[in-house]
Amino acid sequence: MKTLQIAAALLCISLLPNTASAAAKAASTPEGFFKKYCGTCHSLEAGKNKGGPSLAGIFGKKAGTVEGFKKYKGLKGADFVWTPENMDAFITDPKKFVKANTPNKKSGMMSKVKKAEVRATIIEYMKAH
Ligand code: HEC
Repeated sequence: MKTLQIAAALLCISLLPNTASAAAKAASTPEGFFKKYCGTCHSLEAGKNKGGPSLAGIFGKKAGTVEGFKKYKGLKGADFVWTPENMDAFITDPKKFVKANTPNKKSGMMSKVKKAEVRATIIEYMKAH
């Protein structure tokens, strides 16, 4: 019995690195980054709002105006258009961005993406959708 347990434990250990690297690989694709950092709250499908507004074709659109999304807080009454540059600043620190660029003090979006390469990858991915 004990031998079996040890064998089972060893099997788990030997499988671990493979599983981890497969997951890391999937997560480091542009789609994987979007899913990991943004996908819980945003879809890239037009008309599909989740906890956050749909981000389909967001560049060139006026901020805070996605149809059907009623939960704007920080972007309510915003008066600017999304560009890759301001998107980079927004996802670096949404609260700071909202304070600097809108009449509001708080953002309904809290998530920050710290790494510049990850932000750039996500933005490229969004441009294509
Ligand atoms: C935990 C949920 C959540 C996550 C994760 C999240 N967001 Fe948001 N996002 C929101 C909410 C809520 C709003 C509305 C913000 C407001 O008005 O204060 C928002 C708004 C936005 C907007 C403004 C859209 C418009 O209508 O003008 C953009 C762009 C955006 N998010 C991009 C992203 C990106 C890119 C990521 C990933 C790096 C991300 N968000 C991650 C919840 C989230």
